[in-house]
Amino acid sequence: MNMQRIEVKEGNFNLKDYQEAYKQFDWEDVKKEFSWSETGKVNIAYEAVDRHAENPNKADQDALIYSAPDREEHVTFSQLKKSSNQFANVLSSHGIEKGDRVFLFMPRSPEFYSAFFGILKVGAIAGPLFEAFMEQAVRDRLEDSEATMLITTPELLERVPYSELPHLKQIVLVGDDPKTNEEGFIDFHKEMSQASESFGIEWVDLEDGMLLHYTSGSTGKPKGVYHVHNAMLQHYQTTKWVLDVKEDDVYWCTADPGWVTGTSYGIFGPWLNGVTNVIVGGRFSPENWYKAIQDHGVTVWYSAPTAFRKLMSAGEEAVKPYDISKLRHIASVGEPLNPEVIAWGLDAFKLRIHDTWWMTETGAQLICNYPAMEMKPGSMGKPFPGIVASIIDNEGNELPPNQMGNLAIKAPWPSMMRAIWERPEKFESYFLNGWYISGDSAYYDEEGYFWFQGRLDDVINTSGERVGPFEVESKLIEHEAVAEAGVIGKPDPERGEIIKAFITLNEGYQESEELLEDIRQFVKKGLSAHAAPRELEVKDKIPKTRSGKIMRRLLKSWELGLPTGDLSTLDE
Ligand code: WT7
Repeated sequence: MNMQRIEVKEGNFNLKDYQEAYKQFDWEDVKKEFSWSETGKVNIAYEAVDRHAENPNKADQDALIYSAPDREEHVTFSQLKKSSNQFANVLSSHGIEKGDRVFLFMPRSPEFYSAFFGILKVGAIAGPLFEAFMEQAVRDRLEDSEATMLITTPELLERVPYSELPHLKQIVLVGDDPKTNEEGFIDFHKEMSQASESFGIEWVDLEDGMLLHYTSGSTGKPKGVYHVHNAMLQHYQTTKWVLDVKEDDVYWCTADPGWVTGTSYGIFGPWLNGVTNVIVGGRFSPENWYKAIQDHGVTVWYSAPTAFRKLMSAGEEAVKPYDISKLRHIASVGEPLNPEVIAWGLDAFKLRIHDTWWMTETGAQLICNYPAMEMKPGSMGKPFPGIVASIIDNEGNELPPNQMGNLAIKAPWPSMMRAIWERPEKFESYFLNGWYISGDSAYYDEEGYFWFQGRLDDVINTSGERVGPFEVESKLIEHEAVAEAGVIGKPDPERGEIIKAFITLNEGYQESEELLEDIRQFVKKGLSAHAAPRELEVKDKIPKTRSGKIMRRLLKSWELGLPTGDLSTLDE
């Protein structure tokens, strides 16, 4: 097979002449797709749900197919409109208003989506938390956002230190629990059953807030990336052109709504386009995933390299028992998509896997491979129409083709974050000369294809999940045996990177298998499983700069046997 030139398909977006399409495109035209253009007010929940529920041809179409080992449920647009109205009424009756932060900490379920849209319908800001978060991770996010309400399950409540969170006034419990009789607790099912199915939606401005997603940088606690309703323009258009959805598609995005892919493309993208959205609960296994594609007749599938690599290592044998012939389009995000994975996809699925590049901060896809574009495996593709991407040097000057530098996007674009919650200086630090600086290094070739090279900061990407070394280091040194810690990402064939921690021990502690395992478990229970170091190495000293900053770069060079570079700031 000629990997350089893989066959091109027709799609919603036919790039016969990409340059022309790129020149003519105008985001203002996308606004015309929606009902709000006349009033100037909007609500993304209306556009994603109610609009379809009010359309006689779509009202009874499945919006959601929820499928978990112990539960399968179909929810139509009309039903989702009603249940989200009910939850909006519950919120209103408890005083939740426009701008309030309401967080969700629960597994994917039909209740999650009713609650999520209920929050948006009252004009509040939703903060979805990944269900695997442990206490510290939950606490950091609720503290920083000053969330006043949390929706969770009785099982997850034990990881919520609510008595130490003064702003958190009310907790909605999804599931039976005696706690619902206590002050400050609300019984989801009971109140839903009593709530009206009609609700007067809160119309908001395009620039009003809708979502807070916490993500990690190389320093400090996780930061709240703030998105506004205007992002819908880009959610809608990219899902149409890149994910190529059509009205009768059955779409599946594997990401959890605790991560931005799970909201932008697990909720908004498909529903703004009125397509049936499959949500799969339960654990990952190749069998479960192929079965989901078969049983629900999935036609469009958006997932991540780490998942494709796991499927690849399960072999083509794993896919053979399943009929996945309805599948017609696949896309990927989160990490570099290896050319060998694309080659495997061509064999196993007879389809191309289309890489897309974007970030929590960008809110939606920016650089993509389109169904009707020639792909160069290993490249992230070309900028979406309306998006200006470039490579710039550290002074903010654009570089010519084939030169590596900062991958940058001309600001703003519709789905760009509008703030880092309560940290204006952090937000400002992303921008230089009118460019948004991604933190990734890349180059573009003469034909305008962008090629990812790596992260320029210390952020770790493990199985597509973004982990800040500072958070892991902070947790490590909370362990009684750990004196100092330095954390890096170490290349790994399946996970992209794994977390490796170097630690020094406090006086009186001896290195042993048991101790290292105890430390690992400590991080896992405190933060989350994906943030726990897979490798731990005890050192006599952790290299630091004279100002006391851990030199992760040096740790990494040692680990990989690379030249150590400039050591002038190293403290003796
Ligand atoms: C970082 C952003 C929003 C998607 C989920 C990740 C890396 C993302 C690609 C890609 C190579 C990629 C970058 C980026 N990344 N997509 N197609 N090829 N790297 O969002 O958690 O905010 O992480 O993920 O390093 O900066 P995130």
